[in-house]
Amino acid sequence: MRIPLIAGNWKMYKTVAEAVKYVKELRGLVKDVDGVEVVVAPPFTAVHAAAEAARNSNVGIAAQDLYWEREGAFTGEVSGVMVRDAGAEYVIIGHSERRTLFGETDASVNRRMAAAFAAGLCPIACIGETLDQRERQETFDVLDRQIKLGLDGLGSDQIAQLVVAYEPVWAIGTGRNATPAQAAEAHGYIRKRLRQWFGAEAAELCHVIYGGSVKPDNIADLMSQPDVDGALVGGASLDVRSFLDIVTRGRDAARRRQGGAAGTV
Ligand code: PGA
Repeated sequence: MRIPLIAGNWKMYKTVAEAVKYVKELRGLVKDVDGVEVVVAPPFTAVHAAAEAARNSNVGIAAQDLYWEREGAFTGEVSGVMVRDAGAEYVIIGHSERRTLFGETDASVNRRMAAAFAAGLCPIACIGETLDQRERQETFDVLDRQIKLGLDGLGSDQIAQLVVAYEPVWAIGTGRNATPAQAAEAHGYIRKRLRQWFGAEAAELCHVIYGGSVKPDNIADLMSQPDVDGALVGGASLDVRSFLDIVTRGRDAARRRQGGAAGTV
C-alpha cells in the first residue's frame, strides 16, 4: 500500500531565511497531519538550513538535481553524496526544465538515477510529453522511452522505492492542468509498463505522482483518480498555506477513494 506523497518544488525561489521561515511554519501546520508524506525541494543553497529546520518533523527535504560523479573537477555541480550530507532524503531528477533548458537527456537522467540510489537518496523521476507530442498521439511512446532509458539497469527493489512524477510539459506553469481522466490514463499506463518491466510487486509499491498546475482547487479531483499517488507542486507550493491546503485535500481525496482506509492509495 502506498502512502500519498505531496512534494513542493520551489525551483529557483527562496533565500535561506525564507526557506527556514517556511519550513518552521509548515512543520507546525502538518504535525498532526497523518496519512501523507510531505516533502519540499528548496534550491541547493537552502537545502541544509531547510533540513535543519525540518529535523524530527513530518517534513522531508529534497534537492532539485544532482550530478552523478561523487566528487571531482566539475565546477558548479553538486553530487548525490553532498546533497545527502546536507540533509536531503529525496532528489528530483529529469525535471522538464532541466531537459529543455539545460540539455538533460534520458541517458543523463539514467546516470543521475543510479547516483541517487548510491547516495541513499529517494529519486523523484520526472517524465511527461510536450504539447506537440500529445497532439501527434506520441504520449505513450514518449513515456515508454523515458521509462525504459531513464530507469534502465535499476532493480525491482529500487523501483519499489522510487517516485515517478508524471508531468505533462504543457501543464507545467501554464495554469492548464491535465484533466483527471488524462492523468488517470497516463498514470495507469505508467504503472502497467512498470509492472511489465520490473514486476508486479515493484510496480505496486512505486509512487506515481502528478505534476503540472496543481492547485488547492484541483488536487482533490486529480487524487481521486486511480494510480494518482500524490503531486509534485511548483508555483502553488511557494505559499505555505496554499501548500498545506493541497496536502490535506489531496490526502482526504485519497482516503475517500479508499473508502476511508487510513491514508493509503
Ligand atoms: P507548476 O510546476 O505546479 O508550477 O505547474 C510543477 C513542476 O514543475 O514540478
